[in-house]
Amino acid sequence: MKQIIEQISADVDSFKADSLEELEALRIKYLSKKGEISELFNQFRDVPADQKREIGQLLNQLRDKAQQKINNLKEQVELKKQEADKLDLTRTPEPIALGTRHPLSLVKNEIIEIFSRIGFVVADGPEIEDDWHVFESLNFPPEHPARDMQDTFFIEKHPDILLRTHTSSVETRVMTTQKPPIRILSPGRVYRNEAISYRAHCFFHQVEGLYVDKNVSFADLKQVLLYFAREMFGENTQIRLRPSYFPFTEPSAEMDISCNICGGKGCPFCKGTGWVEILGCGMVDPNVLKACNIDPDVYTGYAFGLGVERITNLKYQVKDLRMFSENDVRFLNQFK
Ligand code: DAH
Repeated sequence: MKQIIEQISADVDSFKADSLEELEALRIKYLSKKGEISELFNQFRDVPADQKREIGQLLNQLRDKAQQKINNLKEQVELKKQEADKLDLTRTPEPIALGTRHPLSLVKNEIIEIFSRIGFVVADGPEIEDDWHVFESLNFPPEHPARDMQDTFFIEKHPDILLRTHTSSVETRVMTTQKPPIRILSPGRVYRNEAISYRAHCFFHQVEGLYVDKNVSFADLKQVLLYFAREMFGENTQIRLRPSYFPFTEPSAEMDISCNICGGKGCPFCKGTGWVEILGCGMVDPNVLKACNIDPDVYTGYAFGLGVERITNLKYQVKDLRMFSENDVRFLNQFK
């Protein structure tokens, strides 16, 4: 018995552990109910009476020693773990990948900034609209062929509800809720039922402008658009207005700017003409004012609508419209 006690005592001296699991294994091996030391206590009753005193003492010492050793090791393991968990403030940081603004947002914000300098405020409207705001109020009577100019997504079973095809719908949203003078800019997403290709998408972005007040003239419109073109594309930019047709404006025009890619000399982007179309505009049709209870004998107004993708292409020469909605970071990272 004495020998075994000495043997186990030597084992205890060489206890080592790197984890709490290893320590627990040691505890079970020696100190649990069926552990080696507990086993010795069971055998104690067979020890001859004259040795009981000495062996008893040795046994108690062995048990205390093992328990003490395990406790000490436990403290060490826990301390080591705490050290390892500590924040190392001297470590070089990992680089944080910063996102970038989407090019369409960059350009949209620039457009807003340019117009806000001359008093335009941003107005909002829903993308899921009703027929009245998108067509009817804008002087598109039912069955009017001009409705076919824009391939519309309708909501099944609700022919009155549709995805807006242009931000002009915000014009009548605002004119029915505010009194002139009105000077708003409305950026937003619009939807058309088009086959997706490098040059067309089923959704894109527009910015609508509207100014309604007394004595607003076509000359005001032209000057504001010239200001915009030069702020956006540089002071040498030229504009030209071509007569056009929109149901909600009369007279109507489309505006071209001198191609800022070739400087007006002619290139593939402007198809050799030196000009690129960037927006539609005109004087608000009296019927539109009337639909919104604004007296066309007192007030006049102008409106314009431009395509954000168009402007972005002119600024950054993105050749494929689909890039704008694919969220490829190799594309997006270029706009830092
Ligand atoms: N809503 C027209 C479109 O989608 C653009 C437009 C043309 C807006 C003339 C206007 C405007 O405000 O006066 O294509």
